[in-house]
Amino acid sequence: AIRLDVSGMLRRAVPTGPDAAALDALGPRLAAAVQAFEARVREGVLGFRDLEAQAGERARVLDWAATARRGLDDVVVLGIGGSALGAVCLRTALLPRDWNARSADQRDGRPRLHVLDNVDPRSVAGLLELLDLARTRVLVVSKSGSTAETMAQYLLLRDRLAAQGLSAREHLAFITDPDKGALRKVAAAEGIPAFEVPPNVGGRFSVLSPVGTVPAALFGLDVQALIDGAIAMRDRCTSAQLRENPALAFAALQWHAHETAGQGAHVLMPYSDALRDLGPWFVQLWAESLGKRTADGRHVGPTPIAAVGATDQHAQVQLFMEGPRDKTVTFVDVESHPDDLGIPHGDGAPADLAYLRGHTFGELLRTECRATAGALARGGRPTMTLRVSQVDAWHLGGLFMFFELATIYAAGLYGIDPLDQPGVELGKQLTYYQFGHPQWQGMREIWESLPAS
Ligand code: PA5
Repeated sequence: AIRLDVSGMLRRAVPTGPDAAALDALGPRLAAAVQAFEARVREGVLGFRDLEAQAGERARVLDWAATARRGLDDVVVLGIGGSALGAVCLRTALLPRDWNARSADQRDGRPRLHVLDNVDPRSVAGLLELLDLARTRVLVVSKSGSTAETMAQYLLLRDRLAAQGLSAREHLAFITDPDKGALRKVAAAEGIPAFEVPPNVGGRFSVLSPVGTVPAALFGLDVQALIDGAIAMRDRCTSAQLRENPALAFAALQWHAHETAGQGAHVLMPYSDALRDLGPWFVQLWAESLGKRTADGRHVGPTPIAAVGATDQHAQVQLFMEGPRDKTVTFVDVESHPDDLGIPHGDGAPADLAYLRGHTFGELLRTECRATAGALARGGRPTMTLRVSQVDAWHLGGLFMFFELATIYAAGLYGIDPLDQPGVELGKQLTYYQFGHPQWQGMREIWESLPAS
């Protein structure tokens, strides 16, 4: 189960939180946000919810992966933004820690997973040194099939495969739009395996599409459980009532904290190493979807922050406790740790460490989560806690869906479109101009007027 405890956001816990009357007064705003959500559903643009419609493609992914995974030492994901962060999160959550450092035996013959989400030559060259391309499958993940960073990586990997006489069909696979973009054309011309990102599923909402399921299937992860968990969460989040719809409650309380108390920095802090890459995934989703210019020219949106418990108790928590009162903190508390270990206190252990005796690591982690939430509440800092029974594919699917739905509700409250990202375009276009892309030569004047050019 996944349960959202919002008590630390409310007036009885923190002075800035809404009381019952303020929650009631939210009614019309919530109704408008729910209506905006439903309008997007009717428009058919929230394809990430429609996981049943993707069942055919999912079956194709699983069939292909069952054969493709044989004889692989390495899988490389080439992608950026929404085309990379989901795979990173799946790897960290569902494979043992330090997976890539394990021997083939320790990995049960399953491949290592590398996600190349930047074009820093040091990372690219470093990875190439590691790979035996004859035993590697490269997943080129780009919905548009045109993203400069991913395409540059693709051209390099393709060139290296050719230099070793290795077939593109055997060593590449594409995850892209069903019709558009350069990758789709290459796939059709050369018979390279290609899986579809539905046109109505945006990049940062695509982890449950082949963008996430292809890597997951190559690792033999439980793709069906991932999807089932997401569907169960989606079906829990349909009501227009805060108490009955956790995604709506999360969005509404975050927005309310921002709007009424200036608490627009939204921290996500899982007390779990397995969930540490949920933070960067959430940061991209919340930031790229909600940081926008409104139709009437205002600049709105929260600033998401990723933290990890207990590690950040020795770092960012100082800021959360005593820094500006501009934050909310959402904890993720994992209730069961199947690999839990007792803390020994044998002969010769110092007496002043005796307080640890009889406890476990899991207990320490969970107690620290509760203690930090309590300490923040005592300091008047708003918190929420997502309680997750355990980290597995089902719960991870549920978490992905929870945050994706919350993003759409939050967009309704902020009054912006969560599905576009116009703010990232100018930088891309100026790069294209500098690289001589014929379509962007009109950017010269802007380029030359830049202070740094
Ligand atoms: O969420 C988004 O839309 C972006 O972050 C994209 O995922 C990112 O720009 C990569 O795009 P593409 O998959 O088209 O290469």
